[in-house]
Amino acid sequence: MKNFISVHDIVTECNSNAGAAIDALVAKALAYKANPFMDRKLGADKRIGLLFLNPSLRTRLSTQVAAANLGMEAIVFNVDKEGWAMEFEDGAIMSGNTVEHVKDAAPILGNYFDILCIRAFPSLKNKADDYSEEVMNAFIKFAGVPIVSLESGTLHPLQSLTDIITIKEHCINFPPAGDGRIKIVLTWAPHIKPLPQCVPNSTAQWVNAWGNADFVITHPEQYQLDEQFTQGATIMYNQNEALKNADFVYVKNWSTFNDYGKIYTNDPAWMLTEEKLQLTNNAKVMHCLPVRRNVELSDEILDGPNSLVTTQAANRVWAAQVVLSEILRSLPPSSGGEFAPIP
Ligand code: CP
Repeated sequence: MKNFISVHDIVTECNSNAGAAIDALVAKALAYKANPFMDRKLGADKRIGLLFLNPSLRTRLSTQVAAANLGMEAIVFNVDKEGWAMEFEDGAIMSGNTVEHVKDAAPILGNYFDILCIRAFPSLKNKADDYSEEVMNAFIKFAGVPIVSLESGTLHPLQSLTDIITIKEHCINFPPAGDGRIKIVLTWAPHIKPLPQCVPNSTAQWVNAWGNADFVITHPEQYQLDEQFTQGATIMYNQNEALKNADFVYVKNWSTFNDYGKIYTNDPAWMLTEEKLQLTNNAKVMHCLPVRRNVELSDEILDGPNSLVTTQAANRVWAAQVVLSEILRSLPPSSGGEFAPIP
């Protein structure tokens, strides 16, 4: 694995089937969960840089724990609070607020670190910039080391890998009845602020690529997502109909995609409740967190037996660990840049 930006990065020449490639990663992730330190020498003498242009709890800490489990040194840099304001536009006349161009910063970071991980949320102001993944692509172009997305303009791949790990793990522990095929419903939920489409885009991309579930996305009509991610899913505007016989309900808010980054409705009737859960096949409820309680999801569900959110967040470590281990195995033996120690 060279970079980890989307589901496309896990498809290799040896494993060109995305579903099989995801299943293989999940199996390795669950092996790490059973034995976290089995590869503790793999990352010896390797440094990983975690760059945050936005806040984080789970992504930051789970990736640090995963790196430590592999014997790597992790250094976190909160670019938004401690770094120079970064410019990404090619040819920009930097007479405004930005101080350092990514063309200058990324190659330096690529010398300090063997792997660079970056969180850079979308602006939700300029759809073309956000959906061109200008930040991730700039780091891929200029850093010269593998890049891992910690959530980007359009996607959150470590979250989505985690979510499939969590679903598969649950199905191993509690095998579904019948032919074993499960139904996953991704449902829009109300929120007070316009949020990125990264998590729902990414959920759709990974669940569609996995191909092992009947997959339904339900949302108010104005909240269509980008078809490049949703193609393959059944889209329904009636949440109650969509929830029928669901085995897993993934709850998430997102802002509008077409008229970009807006809130059109905040209808509280879209919040998942115990009553709505009765329509499902006693579904397990997932959310990437952080969650606004009693706005997006009710206390009764989050604190009840159907919630998988804590297990899901805990599994972030194993998703990060398997991705970092795959990248470490693909690094050239002497990678370390110009500042590598003299033997
Ligand atoms: N789910 C998730 O990415 O959480 P953080 O924003 O806390 O990292």
